[in-house]
Amino acid sequence: MPYNTIIEPFRIHSVEAIDLPDLEQREAALERAGLNLFGIHADEVIIDLLTDSGTGAMSSKQWAGMMRGDESYAGSRSFFKFESVVKGITGLSEVIPTHQGRAAEKILFTVAVKEGDVVPNNTHFDTTRANVEYQGAEALDLVIPEGTDPSAILPFKGNMDIDALRATIEDVGSERIPLVMVTVTNNSGGGQPVSMQNLRDVRAVCDEYGIPFYLDACRFAENAWFIKLREPGYEDSTPRAIAKEMFSLADGATMSAKKDGLANIGGFLATNDPAIAMNARNLLILTEGFTTYGGLAGYDLEAIAEGLEEVLDEHYLRYRIRSTAYLAETVAAAGVPIVQPPGGHAVYLDAAALLPHVPAHQYPAQALAVELYRAGGVRGVEIGTVMFGKPDPEGGPDTPAAMELVRLAIPRRTYTQSHIDYVGEVVIDVASRASDIAGLRITSQPPWLRHFTATFEAV
Ligand SMILES: Cc1ncc(COP(=O)(O)O)c(C=O)c1O
Repeated sequence: MPYNTIIEPFRIHSVEAIDLPDLEQREAALERAGLNLFGIHADEVIIDLLTDSGTGAMSSKQWAGMMRGDESYAGSRSFFKFESVVKGITGLSEVIPTHQGRAAEKILFTVAVKEGDVVPNNTHFDTTRANVEYQGAEALDLVIPEGTDPSAILPFKGNMDIDALRATIEDVGSERIPLVMVTVTNNSGGGQPVSMQNLRDVRAVCDEYGIPFYLDACRFAENAWFIKLREPGYEDSTPRAIAKEMFSLADGATMSAKKDGLANIGGFLATNDPAIAMNARNLLILTEGFTTYGGLAGYDLEAIAEGLEEVLDEHYLRYRIRSTAYLAETVAAAGVPIVQPPGGHAVYLDAAALLPHVPAHQYPAQALAVELYRAGGVRGVEIGTVMFGKPDPEGGPDTPAAMELVRLAIPRRTYTQSHIDYVGEVVIDVASRASDIAGLRITSQPPWLRHFTATFEAV
């Protein structure tokens, strides 16, 4: 097209009203929730950037597909459609549906990982880490050093540190490493992509030591688009061909269809290992459901099958990645520190740089996220010491996380440019008074995944 504006490649087919709670209502909500944004009701939020997971808008084709859902307990037609789409994209031979990504992780790690093992990843997502640790194994993050430097500008900041991977294997022994995982894109590391070359290098190391290689493939299509944009030799490849090549380097993958499945629920475990698949299916029957529905309705399988096709559309991916960059550029131009370059699904505000007066054990990113909600009803999520820090058993300060980020995740096909302009305005306003934001202390916390339910008060 001769014009530069990248338009949303869809028009709106049905709308959902947004409530506009005022400041008093937002403050009451914060108090009730103990300053934990997971405790805020969705109706109390103006723009919800808590997650891009399951929050996207489905297409008319997906809704139509849902009407064709086959709800047979065993051998549902919808399963075979889903299986054929997943096999077509991934080339992996065994496809096991699950109700979401963490169920695929739980099943994979239960059958493949045992106490004392070590699982390297570029950066484990919170549920991935928790599921590894739940098996009594160690979840090790081996992203390249620049991957934890918010200001380092690199095309593939999600890459795994190959030397560190090799050193880890040499150190702990390959027999204690049941699998190596790479997360595409690297959500907890700023939504940064991983290059095809890096995936090839991980594959080569895994081959050398006889270790299986799995992808955490939640955002495989966004990663494929970044490869097309940034990796020499892929300019003319389709996202589908790039995705296929990414998967061809792995022995298996866990997937949350709530991201690049463009669905509201669902996921899968796919693998080329028949023994893993057999054990995983047996566990699936125990915990999720029969092997042809895995805790999903037949209509969910239809929505995912269609979503996995739509997500690879070039017009969609161009708009998707550009709209995230648009928010990033808006706030960065006003001097707000963010993880650079912007990732695929979210803009990550660098709370450590914005609130240097708040130490990590007073949770600067949580304090900033709370202030964005209080000021403008914008809900993001802390990815910092609340999520990834280690509490001190003696009651001293937590061991801090590598970065203190507030993630503003953009739901797929959901908000328009004016919504995003509003978010930019709120972020810039809050950032202009960052020196007034006080740190927080935790008043209660659970033993696992504390960020979901911990409560806080201002220091
Ligand atoms: C990289 C990554 N892995 C795994 C998961 C878990 O997926 P789910 O929320 O469907 O359980 C997520 C969810 O946000 C994720 O971003």
